[in-house]
Amino acid sequence: MPSDSAPNAARKMTTHVWQAKKVHGEPITMLTGYDYPTAVALDRAGIDGILVGDSLGMVVLGYDNTLPVTMQDMIHHCRAVARGAKRALLVGDLPFMSYQASVSEATRNAGRLMQKGGMDAVKLEGGRERVPAVRSIVEAGIPVMGHIGLTPQSVHQLGGWKVQGKSAVAARRLIEDALILEDAGCFSVLIEAVPEELAALITQRLAVPVISVGAGAGCDGQCLVVHDVLGFFDRFTPHFVKRYGDIFSHMSEAFGAYIDDVRSRRFPAPEHSHAMDAQEYRELVREIEMLEAELESEGTAPDRLQ
Ligand code: KIV
Repeated sequence: MPSDSAPNAARKMTTHVWQAKKVHGEPITMLTGYDYPTAVALDRAGIDGILVGDSLGMVVLGYDNTLPVTMQDMIHHCRAVARGAKRALLVGDLPFMSYQASVSEATRNAGRLMQKGGMDAVKLEGGRERVPAVRSIVEAGIPVMGHIGLTPQSVHQLGGWKVQGKSAVAARRLIEDALILEDAGCFSVLIEAVPEELAALITQRLAVPVISVGAGAGCDGQCLVVHDVLGFFDRFTPHFVKRYGDIFSHMSEAFGAYIDDVRSRRFPAPEHSHAMDAQEYRELVREIEMLEAELESEGTAPDRLQ
């Protein structure tokens, strides 16, 4: 029997494989993804997990923050990703107010991301205050990823996009929250924008995989927003992002070249057009001429034929 972490490009990633990766000290790779082609490319590259994050509200839909994102938005994008990615572990984000108001709503919405969205797991933001929701979702048979540190759905309460857990008191509270989430049944905890020392301490204390978003190298895995990685977002790039592409510039160049080609009639060229069979075309011209002559003799030809 191969071990749970044996390398096999075609093997479906599960929460169990992730757990085995933590045990064997193999870094877990994750990026966000929101559409079919990106999901196909991520899957082919061999990514371990795709997070359909509510960050799509900012990088795809153009909102200032993630708060306007709805369950419908999430299901729409989850379905597209699920159609493209067959190997990666797919984690769908529960959007703002889909899980905070009641435990039954949280459980039902988590179920929708699985059933309608085709996800393998869900993610929600918050620490100890989320225990009832996490327990209920896990009891429904749905794997849950916790998310602590900078939790973007609480951006107004946090006073902006700020690094969290900088003081000893705040850091200790985050360590407690991570342990509480693990105890409630989370299969993994994502930590965003906290000092690397704190993230490393949490990673050492948790049995489940800890994934970093701007939380340093001491975690079990790394996740970033795919638009930041590709240089596909025009507004800002967080300081903790490493950019591997400049898609936005390539896109602008390509659009400019297309506009020039159309205006200067370089596009479409013959190879971009469909030609009609010459005999069929001659016949068509003859038929049009006959029709025009008929209409003219009846005096019913439209103005443009007279
Ligand atoms: O929505 C998202 O993409 C996220 C990541 C930034 C962790 O929550």
